[in-house]
Amino acid sequence: MFEKNLLAGRAILVTGGGTGLGRSMALRFAGLGAKLHLAGRREQPLRETCDAIHEAGGAASFSCCDVRDYAAVEWMAAEADAATGGIDTLVNNAAGNFIARTERISPNAFNAVVGIVLHGTFHATLALGRKWIAAGRAGNVLSIVTTYAAAGSGSGYVVPSACAKAGVLALTRSLAVEWAKYHIRLNAIAPGPFPTEGAWARLMPSPEFEKHAKDSHPMKRFGRHEELANLAAYLLAPQSDYVNGECVVIDGGQWLRGAGEFNDLVDLPDAVWQQLEDARKR
Ligand code: COA
Repeated sequence: MFEKNLLAGRAILVTGGGTGLGRSMALRFAGLGAKLHLAGRREQPLRETCDAIHEAGGAASFSCCDVRDYAAVEWMAAEADAATGGIDTLVNNAAGNFIARTERISPNAFNAVVGIVLHGTFHATLALGRKWIAAGRAGNVLSIVTTYAAAGSGSGYVVPSACAKAGVLALTRSLAVEWAKYHIRLNAIAPGPFPTEGAWARLMPSPEFEKHAKDSHPMKRFGRHEELANLAAYLLAPQSDYVNGECVVIDGGQWLRGAGEFNDLVDLPDAVWQQLEDARKR
């Protein structure tokens, strides 16, 4: 589908790059010739993903960093520049999410998700954007949002994430205009259900709900990581230079069937919610 060296000469920073969709995108971008720098909280998955990229013949480095902390993000961005020779592309992929009855969550739970998703995305975008503007260098930002942000519907049971992702989309569209004169391009991808260890553990309350999610999907299947990674590669490639401020949905048509990816949890009995909450406390 793509030229082998589509992303040759590029240096891409992926937040949350050690696991899940971040890892899949990083591997794909490296396979297309880009140098990767991965950021995340835990060293082990970052190291493992870097090793996998090296084994495949690619170039990758990593920094441990909690994107909620702006000073840590600035430090990480400096390490990323030093390791790659200069980051030109940022993928804001780090996220936090869980399903919960909103009246049961604490202000700190709201802060944790908004801190990672919205503040973290702002922090990384600001740290890199400032460098690019000061150096007169072009830049590219791709942020991973969700279908309930793209549709403007929000979603029950994931309220902190819905609020934060809506903010990320607003950031993307606002800066697409403000920073276009600096040749900085910002886009977003809104994925529907893509199985990852992190998301599935936090977002699927039971095997029955997973079956329901698949059965009610128009295509009767979840997304494949390579499908999202290929879309991301296109949006970062020079061939899509005129795409700016866009949010591309990739969900097999799921949201059109019923907005708010987690709204069907309205049918989950209180007893099941109670079990989930009790299990978390143990
Ligand atoms: N339901 C309700 N509240 C929850 C929760 C859940 N499932 N999971 C965490 N919380 C609350 C905690 O109780 C805590 O609030 P409190 O201090 O008032 O008790 C608050 O959220 C922060 O949790 P903590 O585990 O201390 O924070 P953290 O910074 O380590 O974790 C999360 C952040 C909560 C977003 C965690 O789920 C995470 O690390 N996620 C990253 C990976 C991920 O979410 N991947 C899927 C992306 S789609």
